[in-house]
Amino acid sequence: MVAIRGAPVVGRRGDEVFVGPDYISATSDNPAFTGDWQLMTNEPGTMDIDRVRAETPACEQVIHLHNCGSSLMPQAVFEATRNHLELEYRIGGYEAAERAMEDIARVYHEAARMFRCNPAEIAFMENATAAWNAVFYGFARGLGPGDRILTANVEYASNYIAYLQVAAATGCAIDAVPDDEHGQLDVAALESMIDERVKLISITHVPTNGGVVNPAAAIGEVARRHDITYLLDACQSAGQMPLDVDELGCDALSLTGRKYLRGPRGTGLLYVRESSMDRLPPATLDLWGARWSAPGVYEMHGGARRYENFENNVAGQVGLGVALRYANDLGLDVIYRRIRLLAAKARDELARINGIVVRDKGLEQCGIVTFTHESTDAKTIQRRMRTAGINVGTSGAASTRLDMEGRGIDMLVRCAVHYFNTEGELDTFCERLEDIVS
Ligand SMILES: Cc1ncc(COP(=O)(O)O)c(C=O)c1O
Repeated sequence: MVAIRGAPVVGRRGDEVFVGPDYISATSDNPAFTGDWQLMTNEPGTMDIDRVRAETPACEQVIHLHNCGSSLMPQAVFEATRNHLELEYRIGGYEAAERAMEDIARVYHEAARMFRCNPAEIAFMENATAAWNAVFYGFARGLGPGDRILTANVEYASNYIAYLQVAAATGCAIDAVPDDEHGQLDVAALESMIDERVKLISITHVPTNGGVVNPAAAIGEVARRHDITYLLDACQSAGQMPLDVDELGCDALSLTGRKYLRGPRGTGLLYVRESSMDRLPPATLDLWGARWSAPGVYEMHGGARRYENFENNVAGQVGLGVALRYANDLGLDVIYRRIRLLAAKARDELARINGIVVRDKGLEQCGIVTFTHESTDAKTIQRRMRTAGINVGTSGAASTRLDMEGRGIDMLVRCAVHYFNTEGELDTFCERLEDIVS
């Protein structure tokens, strides 16, 4: 296998050998590279799948392919969350927090390690929407008639509803950048839409309804060049793939804990670049984000804490810190490689089932695999899968209306793989699906 020497071989299908995050075609007469599609999990740069499954006991109970909704927590995340709640129960909430200061602070350090930023640029929030709102609504106060927000065709409903609300209040305009021929945001079109009235570029990185990965770094490059504030919704990409905020060039990035990061529900994070904090004032402030220093004066906190609230889900914060550490220790590049290989297998096998149409777009495709069937509706598939012990999601037009209406899709099934899934699970899933739709 001369073509792949020196690179970690991470999978094969027939005579195709997958290397790194992409795969190359390698014609080989080596019998080791023929046969069924198979992940090679014992090669360098891959993960110990038996270990990660043993550390996720729920894997024994359910085939979980709903990681874009909410993933399965590793046991360590669950235990850290439960232990803190128990401490609160035993000694009191404030007293428990004093005792667990290091565990509470972990979320900032591990998030900084993951997103390659300063811990003081991270705020702990209750979910991705709250994180996003904290910067968007603050920024939006400065918008006026004629100002423009550029967004993505696959923008998430909560964000778009916020644009509509702000547009009604301020007279600003919302313009969606079209997709290119591959179905990802067209960076050249974005560039051509820029004029002096564009005040914000606000983009969903990976949509809730498909595998496309928008070219966030190329968008960031355009935003930087024109000095336009850039807000990135990384709710579905965080925990799934490596994210470096300097490479992405974003001013702020929002995400949730429960999806690909495998943290507890009711947790999220906001990153805001230190040099952008002045142009992204918090939508609201309390006595945690600011100090009431004289009757007519307040002083904002110097770091991203200004976006936080005093009261929050401390047990969740402790759990999210452990989830971030767990993912960091596995390595986001290793995680993403395995996710993409599993997703490629799922797309391949789904496409072979009669009446199934795989709906994913884009040049780079991630772990969210979406499909429809010509006669069986998505909710029926989801319900019948659940009965068979398999969790999948669905996504309706109201979640990503511009994209779904454009493609004429009402509802699709989401089979969102994570690294702890196996090829065997995907085979079982496809077999059940064949039964359901036949
Ligand atoms: C792309 C995207 N953005 C934002 C959100 C909102 O996340 P949360 O429910 O944590 O507020 C979701 C949730 O599915 C999402 O898929």
